[in-house]
Amino acid sequence: MATFIVMLGPPGVGKGTQAKILSEKTGLAHISSGDLFRENLKNQTELGKLAQTYMTKGELVPDDVTVAMIKDRLTRPDCKAGAVLDGFPRTPAQAEALESMLQEFHGQVDAVPFITAGENVLIERLGGRWTCRVNGAHVFNEKTNPPKNDKKCDFDGAELYQRDDDKPETVKNRIKVYFEQTAPLISYYREHGKLAEIDGTQAIDQVTEDLLVALKK
Ligand code: AP5
Ligand code: MG
Repeated sequence: MATFIVMLGPPGVGKGTQAKILSEKTGLAHISSGDLFRENLKNQTELGKLAQTYMTKGELVPDDVTVAMIKDRLTRPDCKAGAVLDGFPRTPAQAEALESMLQEFHGQVDAVPFITAGENVLIERLGGRWTCRVNGAHVFNEKTNPPKNDKKCDFDGAELYQRDDDKPETVKNRIKVYFEQTAPLISYYREHGKLAEIDGTQAIDQVTEDLLVALKK
């Protein structure tokens, strides 16, 4: 059975940061729905242009489009053993769609780390986030996780930029949308016995340590 880990939590809590580390430690693919949309936008695909109309407002891209994109990504050979899913599913309909996809791909959701932090922490972190132009999984923070060289990625030397949707007004809407549309997944996965709550206000290394302990259970 292929192993899937679903990273759950509000915008800016550290899903991407931890998913990258977990992927390196477990060898599972790291799949970020947000990064896939941003790659599509960079390549000016129809999907990217459509997604942008939602992303700039901090709204969710429609379920059918999102599910189709993830399904396509899961057919790639690097997902054979499973994946760390970062930002998907984000609605109850997406969670149902994931269950049917995984039946097809002979996989299952093994664990759902739910990383938490208060709204002030999220707004502060996103305000100081710098993302790599070349690889969206390379993220830094001017206060809590600064790059070694100003405005350059530590991993590939590429330019760092501030995401368009990290502006305070958009962040506020992303958090609102999270509570309205994604938060129902907390009880969904808790009822399925998959949820592991992790304190996301701790330092990055400590969050990783707690995640690894939770995943061993
Ligand atoms: P997406 O890209 O997924 O954004 P998000 O969920 O809002 O989450 P973020 O990437 O902003 O935060 P994160 O939790 O990954 O935090 P990070 O590790 O970077 O989605 C963007 C948009 O795409 C959505 O709004 C929607 O429009 C669309 N979309 C995506 N998926 C979709 C779906 N399934 N359905 C429909 N639409 C979808 O960390 C944040 C900052 O904090 C960084 O600076 C980092 O260095 C720092 N940091 C991390 N951990 C710590 C720590 N422990 N201590 C201190 N600083 C930390
Ligand atoms: Mg992210």
